[in-house]
Amino acid sequence: MSADMIHHGHLNIIKEAAKLGSVIVGVLTDEAIASYKRLPYLNYEQRATIVSSLKGVDRVIPQTTLDYVPNLEKIHPDFVVHGDDWKEGVQKTTRQRIIECLAKWGGKVIDIPYTQGISSTAMNQRLKEIGTTPEIRLRRLRRLIGAKEIVRILESHSGLTGLIIENTFVEVNGIKHEFDGMWASSLTDSTSKGKPDIEAVDLTTRLHNLNDTLEVTTKPIIFDGDTGGKIEHFVFTVRTLERLGISAVIIEDKVGLKQNSLFGTDAVQTQDSIEGFCAKIKAGKNAQITEDFMVIARIESLIAGKPISDALERAFAYVEVGADGIMIHSKNKTGDDIKEFCAKFREKNFSTPIVVVPTTYNHVTETELASWGVNVVIYANHMLRSAYPAMVNCAKSILTHGRSLEAANEYCMSVKDILTLIPGTKKN
Ligand code: SPV
Ligand code: MG
Repeated sequence: MSADMIHHGHLNIIKEAAKLGSVIVGVLTDEAIASYKRLPYLNYEQRATIVSSLKGVDRVIPQTTLDYVPNLEKIHPDFVVHGDDWKEGVQKTTRQRIIECLAKWGGKVIDIPYTQGISSTAMNQRLKEIGTTPEIRLRRLRRLIGAKEIVRILESHSGLTGLIIENTFVEVNGIKHEFDGMWASSLTDSTSKGKPDIEAVDLTTRLHNLNDTLEVTTKPIIFDGDTGGKIEHFVFTVRTLERLGISAVIIEDKVGLKQNSLFGTDAVQTQDSIEGFCAKIKAGKNAQITEDFMVIARIESLIAGKPISDALERAFAYVEVGADGIMIHSKNKTGDDIKEFCAKFREKNFSTPIVVVPTTYNHVTETELASWGVNVVIYANHMLRSAYPAMVNCAKSILTHGRSLEAANEYCMSVKDILTLIPGTKKN
C-alpha cells in the first residue's frame, strides 16, 4: 500500500490478513508512487512508521517498484492479501503476475471485498481543498526531484493559471500525467502587466501577484529571481520567498540592465564574473533559514555566445560554493549544446539537479531530457503565450463584425461555464 491516508478500508485488509498469519506490509516508496501518480503527502519514513504501528502488522518492507515479484521472491509468502478492486483496471495484470509467482511455492492471492463509501481519491480531493502550509509546499520540490525521473513545471502568472496547473491532468496508459509545480516567470509577470522583462516590475509587486496563486494552489513554486539584484538585496529576497513557502529561486549570472535571454546576443548583456556570482550564491545560502529552500544558479554563457567550456567552468564553481542546482539556458533550436553540457557536467557531478527551459528546442521530449541527466523541465511562458492569441482574435472578431456573436461562438467559453469554472463555486 502507499498508506498516505489510512482509512478503515486499509485496516479491514490488515485485520483479514492477520487471521491468516504473520503480516508483512509492502509500503510503496516515494519513487514507486511517483512513477504512476502524484507524490504522497507523507514521505516513506513517515508512512512506514505509521503502518508498522498499526495493530496486526508485524513488519514493514519497502516496495521500491510497482512490480511485487522481487519482494515476493525474497519473502515467499503463503498469501498475498489485497483489496478486490485490483481485479479490474490497470492492476489486473499485476494481480495475474502475482498469482503465477506465488504458484511456484503454492502461495495464494486473497482478495478482500473493497470497503464501500470511502475512497483515497475523494479524501485527497478534500485535502486539496483545505490547502497546504508554506513549510510543506516548500519541501515538496526537493522530494519531487528525489523521487521522479524528471520534474515537470509550467509557468503561472495568475490565480487562474495556477488553478489550471493545480488541477489539469491526463491519463496515458493508466499513468496520471500532471504538472508537478509552477514557474513564477519574470517574462510573463512583466508581460501580463504590459511591461518589458527588465526587472522593472519590482519584487513586492510580483509577490503581491503571486499571492493569488499561493491562495488557490498546493503545488511547489520556483521563482524566477532574474539577476537577484544587489547582494545586499538578494538576502532579503531569499528570506521573503522562504517565508511564503516558495521552494526555490533561480538567479542568472548577469549584471547591469537585464534583458530577456531569448533576445540572445541581439541585446547587449554582461555576464557577472565567476567570483561576483559565487559571492551572491553564498550570501543567499547563508541567508536561508530552512534546510530545504534551494538557490539555483542559472548560467547564461550559451545565451551570450560563449563556449560550453565556459558554462561548465561556471557550473562547477557555482556548485562548489553551495548552489543547490544548475539551470543551463540556451536559445539554440537543436538542443545539442544543452545535451553536450549535461553529458560533460554529469561526467564529474552525478547528483546536483540540472534544470532546463526548452523554449526553443521544444521538439525534445521529457524522456529524452531525463536521459541526458536533466532533473527539472520548465515550460516557461506557455500559459501566457497561448492565452494572448485567443484574446487578440476575439478583439479582432468584435471589430470586424460590429457585434460579439462570432467571437462568442468561436473564441469564448460560455458565461455559464465561467461562473462555475473555479472549484468550490457554489451552484444555487
Ligand atoms: C522567464 O520565464 O522569465 C525566464 C526564462 O527567465 S527566459 O524567458 O527563457 O529567459
Ligand atoms: Mg526571467
